Amino acid sequence: MVLALKCFSTWGVFDIMKPYLDGTTSCGPFEVQLGYETFGGRGSGKETHAYSVGYSEDDVKAVVDICDKMIFNSLSQLQAYRHLVEGKASIGVRLNPGVSRAGQDLADPARQFSRLGVQQQQLSPSLFDSLDGVMFHINCENKSADDFIALLDDISHQFGEYLDKLDWVSLGGGVFFTWPDYELEKLAQALKHFSEKHSVQLYLEPGEAIITNTADLVVTVVDIVENGMQTAIVDSATEAHRLDTLIYNEPASIGEASQFGEFEYVIGSCSCLAGDQFCVAKFEQPLNIGQRLHILDSAGYTMVKLNWFNGLKMPSVYCQRSNGDIQKLNEFGYEDFKRSLSQWSVS
Ligand SMILES: Cc1ncc(COP(=O)(O)O)c(C=O)c1O
Repeated sequence: MVLALKCFSTWGVFDIMKPYLDGTTSCGPFEVQLGYETFGGRGSGKETHAYSVGYSEDDVKAVVDICDKMIFNSLSQLQAYRHLVEGKASIGVRLNPGVSRAGQDLADPARQFSRLGVQQQQLSPSLFDSLDGVMFHINCENKSADDFIALLDDISHQFGEYLDKLDWVSLGGGVFFTWPDYELEKLAQALKHFSEKHSVQLYLEPGEAIITNTADLVVTVVDIVENGMQTAIVDSATEAHRLDTLIYNEPASIGEASQFGEFEYVIGSCSCLAGDQFCVAKFEQPLNIGQRLHILDSAGYTMVKLNWFNGLKMPSVYCQRSNGDIQKLNEFGYEDFKRSLSQWSVS
């Protein structure tokens, strides 16, 4: 299993995660470098995988000496850059089987006109004589082992004769094997069977499944206003600090809320965007200005997307160990904000 850094890259806690994972998978050259430097690459017993929807030649040159596997998204990228990679890293392409399990169209790799991966009808058998592996990423928060196994069968059926020629197959991320009651043994058996059937080393690229419910975004109520509903305004914004709440229109959960509480509030952000709110939540007691709230499950695709919109203060990052010890991993100040906008002014 290689950690998908696009989901979670807070490298200050990688030492806690390393015993359970075999390396990292990354997109852009900076992610690849980060994985290599902080999780461990060649020679360390860990692997660094590089896959991007679109690499420039400079990108390929920047990562080829530090990645173990280089996965191209299209046949044109493979053709353009394979000569730079041969002899340095194992080469793969992403295939798109046209089937997926993804909740929303925005995150669905099998959506109409998808640009993610090579379609079956574009493949020729000879391609696989000079490839080391392939990658499929076709799931998003898939909590059903049966569903995943059905996808595996589909892949085996569509691409089996090609897979038999390869050394490795990555099955991407989106498999929620840490979800309570996930049928882990069933998944393990299916993976073993697939790996033996096609004689390939299998990889999973989990992101979300690794860090779900590991981080809270801690906010403070700064005002309470009323306009048909009570809104508690907090010192944070989905647009800046929890972007997926906005992108996927999925309300956040508040640790202090109570399903049957009689005091209901919109948990509103302090950004200028009219519809920027975390959720509607009920509480057993009225909220007070100065009160802290915990916005649950705020690690995945959240900490990596923090931005400076509205010049809001960036949340500091802390790690709490199981013995209660708390360690600061990061804090941000005005200089970080300013530098992110310009480092030099025109003369
Ligand atoms: C190619 C690839 N691998 C792995 C992942 C990680 O997925 P997840 O965080 O859902 O496990 C993603 C997410 O978009 C991805 O695009």
